[in-house]
Amino acid sequence: MNDPDVQRAATSHVPVLLDAVVQHLRPGPGTRMLDCTLGMGGHSAALLAAGANVVGVDRDEAAQRLAAARLSNYAERFTLRTNTFADAVESAVRAGEQFDGVLADLGVSSLQLDDSARGFSIRASVPVDMRMDCAHGESALGLIDRLDADELANVIYKYGEERLSRRIARALKQARSEGADSVEALAAVIRRVVPGHHQRHPALRTFQALRIAVNDELGQLERLLTALPSVLKAGGRAVIISFHSLEDRMVKQSFRALKVANVFSDVAARVVIADDAENAVNQRAASAKLRWAIAGDQP
Ligand SMILES: C[S@@+](CC[C@H](N)C(=O)[O-])C[C@H]1O[C@@H](n2cnc3c(N)ncnc32)[C@H](O)[C@@H]1O
Repeated sequence: MNDPDVQRAATSHVPVLLDAVVQHLRPGPGTRMLDCTLGMGGHSAALLAAGANVVGVDRDEAAQRLAAARLSNYAERFTLRTNTFADAVESAVRAGEQFDGVLADLGVSSLQLDDSARGFSIRASVPVDMRMDCAHGESALGLIDRLDADELANVIYKYGEERLSRRIARALKQARSEGADSVEALAAVIRRVVPGHHQRHPALRTFQALRIAVNDELGQLERLLTALPSVLKAGGRAVIISFHSLEDRMVKQSFRALKVANVFSDVAARVVIADDAENAVNQRAASAKLRWAIAGDQP
């Protein structure tokens, strides 16, 4: 990680729905916040600037290094935890640790998307990897090779909501048997089997599905939602920002069920989305959906 990366993160990176995050988490001196998805440290920087103590979690080594450098001025109030957020919240529950606020800004960061060596971008000429933590687990290429065509089609259909999943899965298996391994090459294969003209690259949904699968993104969210009531202090606040309809549905259903059970005293009745001004400057904001919840007084 070099200084220009840190500079870029500090000056040009715009955290999504920042005002709503601060409004709903209410950071302030003496409060303790858990940022489950530290990324480039944008949301954490705002929580720290408001006086909060922040524990930041990320499974990506590049994000950890960049955020730690960016937030070094707040070293006495900032703690970095290298982990998945599911493991981190479950450890916190076991340790009896609680927070005034918990934030999760799900998915991948622009740092990950912009680094062509990571294989997240559709134009990357490197083998398809897509792991947020490159030191653990199976790469997307490994997943394509391990699953048979039907299993692969199911992944592409379920996580990518891709109608042509069977055709795409067969084409990917065929391309792999001929040695294709880069994102670029496999994206071109998908383009060939998806008819018509496209505004967005027709392989995006498939790669999103592979990314969600290799990082177990829905499993991670499920575990976070289960542990959430136990890591919030009485009256503590949670904010979750999602970018995928399956994730938003999970958050909505979990928050509503916990409100009915009186575990949460209040939850977002409606999803919070970015306004036109934010959409104009931040492409990522367009698909962001924020939901908040407040823990009841009896934890
Ligand atoms: C959208 S970015 C967060 C951006 C951040 N809010 C900011 O303002 O810079 C998501 C980050 O969360 C991390 N991440 C996603 N899922 C994770 C998980 N299950 N456990 C730990 N980190 C995760 C990714 O590695 C990425 O760095």
